Amino acid sequence: MLIILLGPPGAGKGTQAEEIAQKYNLVYISTGDILRKAVKEETSMGRNAREYMDQGQLVPDNLVVEIVRDRLMKPDCANGALLDGFPRTVDQAVFLDQVLPDIGAKIDRVLLIEVEENELIERLTGRRVCSNCGANYHIKYKPPQVRNVCDQCGGDLYQREDDSLATVKERLEVYKKQTEPLIKFYQGKGLLSSIDGNQNIEDVFGQVRNILEDL
Ligand code: AP5
Repeated sequence: MLIILLGPPGAGKGTQAEEIAQKYNLVYISTGDILRKAVKEETSMGRNAREYMDQGQLVPDNLVVEIVRDRLMKPDCANGALLDGFPRTVDQAVFLDQVLPDIGAKIDRVLLIEVEENELIERLTGRRVCSNCGANYHIKYKPPQVRNVCDQCGGDLYQREDDSLATVKERLEVYKKQTEPLIKFYQGKGLLSSIDGNQNIEDVFGQVRNILEDL
């Protein structure tokens, strides 16, 4: 099974991805997480990507597509994968269509999580992430049991560089210009299912489950 999660920054893609990957036994591939790891480790790709990410811009397609192709070709993806944050441009989607036959895969469903803009801003500016295991929290909607401490591993929580208000606004603009055209792209292929992401985390997952169980 190959599932793509589409939606604006802060829609809850990463939050839902944790549940989906676990329930459906899919390999979770987040280009954002892979790029952040490269930035942290100061690899040459990370150094290239950093300036774009910090400004809320997309990293150039040529850097990202290689990451995804290499990851999808690993044997653990044979049972299925969940793509979060890729593709993010029509060019990336066309690239994915070209690569999939090489690995004997096809896209089963594209889940579009839709959330109102004010809510997106509140979610992103209130997000906290574990510096050790990467678990996601929110100061209001999903607070940790102990302030700024990860429930899962005890690591320190931090705020992502690109979750400042100014950069969040830029990311939302970039989404509208560069990523929203994918909605029509996948609608045209009959692959798109829309999800109302304005509900609580459990109810959003309920909608996801209904869609995936019909496949
Ligand atoms: P990436 O990490 O993919 O960021 P994003 O798409 O902007 O998405 P986010 O991770 O910010 O949001 P999310 O939808 O996962 O929401 P989350 O579940 O965390 O990319 C970062 C950067 O990397 C990009 O800007 C770009 O530079 C680069 N990049 C990545 N992929 C690329 C590509 N393919 N091409 C080029 N560049 C690329 O939830 C957010 C908060 O809300 C959390 O605090 C959570 O607890 C809370 N929350 C979640 N769901 C709910 C709910 N239902 N109700 C209340 N709160 C909720």
